[in-house]
Amino acid sequence: LSGLVVAIDGTSGSGKSSTSRGAADRLGLRYLDTGAMFRAMTWWLLDQGVDVHDPAAVAARCAEPQIVSGTDPLAPTITVDGTDVGVAIRSDAVNAAVSPVSAVPEVRARLLDLQRAVIAAETAEGGIVVEGRDIGSVVAPDAPVKLYLSADPGARAARRAAEQGGADVAATRESLLARDQIDSGRATAPLVMADGAVHIDTTAYTLDEVIGQVVALVEDAE
Ligand code: C5P
Repeated sequence: LSGLVVAIDGTSGSGKSSTSRGAADRLGLRYLDTGAMFRAMTWWLLDQGVDVHDPAAVAARCAEPQIVSGTDPLAPTITVDGTDVGVAIRSDAVNAAVSPVSAVPEVRARLLDLQRAVIAAETAEGGIVVEGRDIGSVVAPDAPVKLYLSADPGARAARRAAEQGGADVAATRESLLARDQIDSGRATAPLVMADGAVHIDTTAYTLDEVIGQVVALVEDAE
């Protein structure tokens, strides 16, 4: 599987992360969570007291933080200026601010460079599963395998609330839908189904079943 890039895009809570990690593990590939990079940027801006709803203020500062992603699918890591932010980037404050931050073109350009550097380094060695919103459309448009995962909002909210240790399902649903709307509506690299992507609606499947479908698609493409 040397040099292989598997692009996995989809809405918030569609099962992208668990599927991407599981498939990477089974296929012996590395893993990059680009959402974690946007979350890390957002965490840093909030920590610095930058107004995340002011695109000019965000653009002016977004070159500063050093964001480093570990690519082990069984233990992905993310640091900002050497600090492990793996837990901090899942907070409600980051959830509420990450989509406005991710809509700022300068943020996207900065993280695109970092993402392409990780992909280049990993594909020189083996292959990588990359998950996000614009992987098949912008980050890795030549990826030989592209997937678009979706699920109905009720299922997504129930899964995400359970992951967060029994958070309120209705509030989680609103938060997911608000992010989807901003992510799909932005001008730069909106969430779209990329040309050539295979669409999997995960609503009716278990995680293992979806991972099995992804593994089969990758093996077919080889
Ligand atoms: O995947 P996750 O839900 O952690 O992503 C958090 C947010 O990061 C998304 O709602 C979106 O605003 C942004 N994002 C993005 N492009 C990506 C990955 C994530 O804009 N490739």
